[in-house]
Amino acid sequence: MQKDGITRRDFMRTSAGATGLALGAKAILLEASPIPNPARPVPANDRVRFGIIGVGMQGSGLLRTSIKLPGVECGAACDLYDGRIELAKEITDNPQLMTSKRYHDLLDNKDLDCIVAAVPDHWHKQIVVDCCSAGKDVYCEKPMTHQVSEGFEMIAAEQKNNRIVQIGSQRRSSIVYLKAKELFDQGVLGDVCLVESGMGRNDPCGAWEYTVPPDLSPETVDWETWLGSAPKRPFDPLRWTRWRCYQDYGEGIPGDLFVHLLTGIHTIAGITAPPERALSAGGLFRWKDGRDVPDVMTTLYEYPNFRAALRVSLNTEAPEYTRLMGTKGLLEIHGNWLSFTPQDGENHEPCTPGWPKKMKADYAEKWEAEHGPKPGTQSVVESTTFFTPPGYSESREHLWNYFQSVRTRKPSVEDATFGNNAAIGCHLANYSYFKKTVAVWDEAAKDIRG
Ligand SMILES: NC(=O)c1ccc[n+]([C@@H]2O[C@H](COP(=O)([O-])OP(=O)(O)OC[C@H]3O[C@@H](n4cnc5c(N)ncnc54)[C@H](O)[C@@H]3O)[C@@H](O)[C@H]2O)c1
Repeated sequence: MQKDGITRRDFMRTSAGATGLALGAKAILLEASPIPNPARPVPANDRVRFGIIGVGMQGSGLLRTSIKLPGVECGAACDLYDGRIELAKEITDNPQLMTSKRYHDLLDNKDLDCIVAAVPDHWHKQIVVDCCSAGKDVYCEKPMTHQVSEGFEMIAAEQKNNRIVQIGSQRRSSIVYLKAKELFDQGVLGDVCLVESGMGRNDPCGAWEYTVPPDLSPETVDWETWLGSAPKRPFDPLRWTRWRCYQDYGEGIPGDLFVHLLTGIHTIAGITAPPERALSAGGLFRWKDGRDVPDVMTTLYEYPNFRAALRVSLNTEAPEYTRLMGTKGLLEIHGNWLSFTPQDGENHEPCTPGWPKKMKADYAEKWEAEHGPKPGTQSVVESTTFFTPPGYSESREHLWNYFQSVRTRKPSVEDATFGNNAAIGCHLANYSYFKKTVAVWDEAAKDIRG
């Protein structure tokens, strides 16, 4: 390996000479789940037929991915906008696909085993509760809730009706995060005291300024139903298209983006409760298009054993990262790879800042005799990087996990309790930002207080 004119061996030799430590690097390819070949026929009694509710930006992607999974078929689609009904027929290449603007028609359809729902956040609770009550398993997009109280209703509906509920935060199924979890559980990081995670975007689409479809009108969309439990208002194409910009339907940066970062952190660290406290700062600096949520948000969270700092900006493109800082090393996740670099937490040279020359030299001699590396015994600090295989998709893996749970009744990888803990993390961030106070999770009251 030749980088910037230095071979790895040269680098190791240089490092060893300087500090008694050597640095190296190892790359390992991660293994994805063995999803069977879609071309192989699946017996009829092993097939899963799902109905999709919401065929928008995310729902259309879920639909495309799901119908390519072995033994998974789409039996019906529901949306409130004609354009999306047309899109569902296009994606499934089935002009006869059963479609409806009333999702209850899908819940009444005995030919459907389960539901995939990708509707705006203010509709999640009602659809999950109605699916469970109708005896249908449901995959519901993230963040699980729009309001704190909704999560507990959803958990109750899941448990009472014994349904599979899977929330759609795909990092929960990612082999990158599961490898990080394995390393965390093995203790190779030592005590993890601080976690950082963030990302950034820098274009109108990334800041949720999606283009309004030209035919959008009260004739092509059922606006009254779309509003659901949100305050009544006249038809507004911007609100329909850019709902993430408004607190009536979404939760801004926390609900859209923190939830992914929190899901990753909760997965790795095995978190089974909401964060205890949160303190946010942020602001609306750039996208002053009538939205009522900020475009920069940073939140500090307290968990029992570590603190976490999350940062998202819609004003600067920056790659997503998650960094776990432990007493025995650093673990970093960047998209489809993670790296772990061990640290021994020891001095590698005498620690004598500000000592006079002779005192320093005498101590150094003594220190080297006691601590210096013996020839041939230098420890090699080897950083290991794990990569996903080419073409790996965590979303595909997450959907596959859902349909396998529906088929086999094995527990959901991201049930309503897990989804709720991450969603509460989002609500804590917003509570702190909007009320300008520290937000505290009150477990007894199952609510946030300032
Ligand atoms: N997991 C991810 O990476 C990811 C990515 C994007 C979006 N999402 C989530 O997916 C969900 C949908 O987001 P989107 O960007 O696709 O929104 P979208 O506005 O593009 O699509 C939502 C669709 O749902 C339809 N709809 C709304 N209420 C409905 C109802 N009661 N019955 C039937 N249809 C209804 C709308 O007409 C619209 O076509 C959100 O919860 C969002 O947070 C997740």
